[in-house]
Amino acid sequence: MERVEVRELLKDLVVLRVLDKNIRYFESLWEIPEGVTYNSYVLRTREGSILFDTVKHSFSEEYVDALKRVVDLRDIKYVVIQHMEPDHSSSLKTLSTLSEFRAEVLGHPLTAKLIKSLLGVDVKFRPVKDGEELRLGDTVLKFIHAPWLHWPETIFTYVEELRALMTCDAFGAYSIPPHVISDLTYLRTQYVRFMRKYFVNIIGHYRDNVIKALNKLAALNLGLELVAPSHGAAFLGTNTINEVLKLYRSWAEGRSENKKLVILYTSMYGYNEEIIEKLLGMIKRDDIRVEVFKFTSEHRDNISDFLGEVIDARVIVLVTSTYDNSVFPITKYLLELLLAKSNTEKPLYIITTYGWNDAASREIRNILEKSKFKLSGELSVNSLLTEADLQKLSNVSKEILTLLEH
Ligand code: FEO
Repeated sequence: MERVEVRELLKDLVVLRVLDKNIRYFESLWEIPEGVTYNSYVLRTREGSILFDTVKHSFSEEYVDALKRVVDLRDIKYVVIQHMEPDHSSSLKTLSTLSEFRAEVLGHPLTAKLIKSLLGVDVKFRPVKDGEELRLGDTVLKFIHAPWLHWPETIFTYVEELRALMTCDAFGAYSIPPHVISDLTYLRTQYVRFMRKYFVNIIGHYRDNVIKALNKLAALNLGLELVAPSHGAAFLGTNTINEVLKLYRSWAEGRSENKKLVILYTSMYGYNEEIIEKLLGMIKRDDIRVEVFKFTSEHRDNISDFLGEVIDARVIVLVTSTYDNSVFPITKYLLELLLAKSNTEKPLYIITTYGWNDAASREIRNILEKSKFKLSGELSVNSLLTEADLQKLSNVSKEILTLLEH
């Protein structure tokens, strides 16, 4: 099966889409059984072609073959490197070795240094300033610096004649969408969770910069008709694009506009699992959405999915144990990622179990002190649940229900 798809997005705008179905850990970190795409775009103009981003180097041979079917490499006037992370930039190395490749490479001033250090090649490079315009025949490109979406050198490119914004990581998603364009229905029903997961995993640490970038785009009043990221699907039409921009703002602000409870638990010997069963029984309501992530001797959920679900949760519950006079190691790791990627002012409840010393709750409190999370309640259980513990658990469940209602 071909791993590089070529599709015409609009007249004269072609996407080369690498379908990475075998990847297990994006950035060698995030579990993505849904796969991912790397999108590179070619814009044909009367004066030559412009290439936006490339693809991950492990696909570069097939990518270059596909690119040659779309355009004569001698005809590429510019390559716009919008972001230097190698999933987008590394096939530039292969291109730069080909005699017929003569394009000038455009990017953020910092990109020149990164081309040298990450790819080790010499290219004809021209830095572009924020707001700078470049004309090729009738085509006008406007470069918009978008620092930290996802690296400091990230830029967007606005193609004036198409009212199209090329955005690299921003507005991208995991998964291999069946179509190169996501309509509003697909976005709402299936795609949004992959987009949210990608947002938190990759850009979540830079949510303040996301808000700055969204404000900058709003001030530019570009009248966008197409948003074309370098992962996942593109978005066509004002309604879909407005929804995408709204979702991004909502995630960046860590808003919770729903009755969504996210529970994360670890359980070595079933004691915590029993607490979860009781708690779920107490909060069971049709209008409440509960997402449970578990780490047990039989099962481990994906950390990447947990982070993707937590950003728009109303309340978070963490159930875990003491281990080696500290908190269970997986919980510690999860908390570290939670604070790095999704640090929001959400209510968080902790329930800890212990044998002889509740070190877990002490350690979690220490970790949360540095966060924005509101520690809204704690329950410490000495292994087996007592009647008194059940009463306290019932009180906690009532508080959670109240929070979910408001
Ligand atoms: Fe998809 Fe930050 O690279």
